[in-house]
Amino acid sequence: MQYNSTAPQTAQNSHPVEKGPLHSISFSWVWCTLSTATLANVPKHIDHFSKFSPSPLSMKQFLDFGSTNACERTSFAFLRQELPVRLSNIMKEINLLPDRLLATSSVQLLQTWYIQSLMEILEFLHKDPEDQRVLEMFVEVLEAIRNRHNEVVPTMAQGIIEYKDAFGQQDAVTDHNIQYFLDRFYTSRISIRMLINQHTLVFNGNTNPAHPNTIGCIDSMCDVTEVARDAYESAKLLCEQYYLGAPELELRQTNANNIREPIQISYIPSHLYHMLFELFKNAMRATIENHEASRTLPPIKVMIALGGEDLSIKMSDRGGGVPFRKTERLFSYMYSTAPRPSIGDKHRAPLAGFGYGLPISRLYARYFQGDLQLYSMEGYGTDAVIHLKALSTDSVERLPVFNKSALRHYKLSLEADDWCIPSKEPLDLAVYRAAK
Ligand SMILES: Nc1ncnc2c1ncn2[C@@H]1O[C@H](COP(=O)(O)OP(=O)(O)OP(=O)(O)O)[C@@H](O)[C@H]1O
Ligand SMILES: [Mg+2]
Repeated sequence: MQYNSTAPQTAQNSHPVEKGPLHSISFSWVWCTLSTATLANVPKHIDHFSKFSPSPLSMKQFLDFGSTNACERTSFAFLRQELPVRLSNIMKEINLLPDRLLATSSVQLLQTWYIQSLMEILEFLHKDPEDQRVLEMFVEVLEAIRNRHNEVVPTMAQGIIEYKDAFGQQDAVTDHNIQYFLDRFYTSRISIRMLINQHTLVFNGNTNPAHPNTIGCIDSMCDVTEVARDAYESAKLLCEQYYLGAPELELRQTNANNIREPIQISYIPSHLYHMLFELFKNAMRATIENHEASRTLPPIKVMIALGGEDLSIKMSDRGGGVPFRKTERLFSYMYSTAPRPSIGDKHRAPLAGFGYGLPISRLYARYFQGDLQLYSMEGYGTDAVIHLKALSTDSVERLPVFNKSALRHYKLSLEADDWCIPSKEPLDLAVYRAAK
């Protein structure tokens, strides 16, 4: 199977959307090298490419393409169409953010990165895939784009801090829209980096002899237990640095398919590591802060289970848990009970602080049709469970698409709840009876 089998070249892939006016992009911010004439065409290009739906790839397609029939020209032809589609779809949504958030210097800067990257890829639309020099230049441009977008997450976070600091707490609808947007924006970014990484790693000619099963950034035999141990060791180091101690790890596993075999799936080890590292940091912090007075720390227990359909990892701590009412809030960007670390301090690697650990980890899990859920028992501890697809054919990219339904989300207005809201005041029964 090849990339171009899913390329969005056909008319049925396009999806008509109600086109709102493109938010005026402040071109004065575009310090990039693009000419004024090129910049003037940006809204037209975004309109055009956002009419196509992104084409999700399965893990199996990524693997098959990289191993058996790695054709750089085909990959090039796919990416020069697919990357503008994914970029334009999300750029349309950036323009639906509240005006005052769009006007922050961070979001403006971020938009210049997206515009420049889009235009750089479009330069290749009419180039000849048979020309080796074109293919080499394409790899260079992709690497430059990846580097340019390295700081997207903290820059967007900074934009939201600027916005909230300047205009205070926002209403529930605005908060909902921002959360909805960020989930989609960061998922889009994860997917774009995935495509770029696969192309640049598969076609740079360097195979890693230490990891013969690795194709690009995917390991077709990713050893889940090994990744879990690595993530634990890194979190432990960090934890010992701040708290002078760390809970032990108790790890168990069961492979329902073959009890003697190690648990291996096709997955991106860096994504799995990211999720587990974040969960370990949270579990360690909760455990230590909940046992300040005691001499011993209860261990963090991890159970890994492989079935026919799912690979599940449960991490259980005895960190005191959180009230049920707050569970969903933990997945809000910026929600953290830790003191906020300073953004510019690159040397400090805090155990907690920005409130991005859980929401971003859940996006990684969902990106290939998995999920991340928290079950907390206040007064005792928390179970965090990652569910992933065991089969590479089931692991298909989950991608945002800009269409009417997405637009509707941003147009939601504050309406009355259709469930009664209990009065905060205690009901005065005497008055109530007298009135009857
Ligand atoms: N295992 C846990 N036990 C108790 N509380 C938890 C647990 N995991 C998360 N929390 C709560 O959820 C909040 C949000 O977690 P999240 O990982 O998203 O951000 P953070 O840890 O505060 O900062 P960072 O972005 O560095 O991860 C935490 O501040 C903490 O209050
Ligand atoms: Mg955290």
